[in-house]
Amino acid sequence: MEKQQFLYEGKAKRIYATADPDLLVVAYKDDATAFDGKKKGQIERKGMLNNRISSFFFQLLASRGVDSHFVRQLSDTEMLVKKLDIIKVETVVRNIAAGSLSRRLGLAEGTPLSRPVLEYYYKDDALGDPMINEYHIYALNLADRGQLLKIAEDSLRINEILSGYLRGKNIILVDFKLEFGLFKGEVLLGDEISPDTCRFWDAETGEKMDKDRFRRDLGGVSEAYAEVLDRLTGGKS
Ligand code: TMP
Ligand code: ASP
Repeated sequence: MEKQQFLYEGKAKRIYATADPDLLVVAYKDDATAFDGKKKGQIERKGMLNNRISSFFFQLLASRGVDSHFVRQLSDTEMLVKKLDIIKVETVVRNIAAGSLSRRLGLAEGTPLSRPVLEYYYKDDALGDPMINEYHIYALNLADRGQLLKIAEDSLRINEILSGYLRGKNIILVDFKLEFGLFKGEVLLGDEISPDTCRFWDAETGEKMDKDRFRRDLGGVSEAYAEVLDRLTGGKS
């Protein structure tokens, strides 16, 4: 499937049309941003690494019965996806306190949570993606009850699948963010699942293997992303 006209550009990806109106090409960039775009930079080989890592996770989820927009990987930096009507609700699932949860609730980073926490955020860059609850979602007509139930169930199921899989690769899944959309009326997982959108900690050392290395200027960012891919693919990247 050839990419055709350029449609739009996000912070980490470019989107292109294809000959099929139901399908898009996503091209992953090396650009990195944090803190609502206030911090900008580049992570060497990130486009390739995140495309491959996301492709891997989408295929893993499909094999366990969780469908997404992913159709197939097209090249090192590109994947073919179904065109979704974006639902403006992002979910974050957390297993261990970190980041904004640690700040908001005064929990030391690394504090285990006795059960997974599911949070909703309003996908709106201008507002800085504020946290919302189900009442906001219904009041703003962002999703209906059936759609939100599917979003919540898929998010928690994805947590189970990915946490278990990554544990076998000596990686702790601390937390992650997901986005969803509608394809022919059906709620489908969209966007990406990568070290840009997840917190991964090495199970032995606790070392961060994700975008927190960029956000917090820890160095070794590209190397950490490459290590995640290596562990997923058994070094055959
Ligand atoms: P947080 O602790 O900053 O709220 O982040 C929770 C998770 O969501 C973490 O794995 C990083 C991911 N995330 C994104 O993918 N995009 C974002 O814009 C933010 C703020 C977090
Ligand atoms: N991707 C978001 C941004 O640019 C935030 C983040 O991941 O920290 O700003």
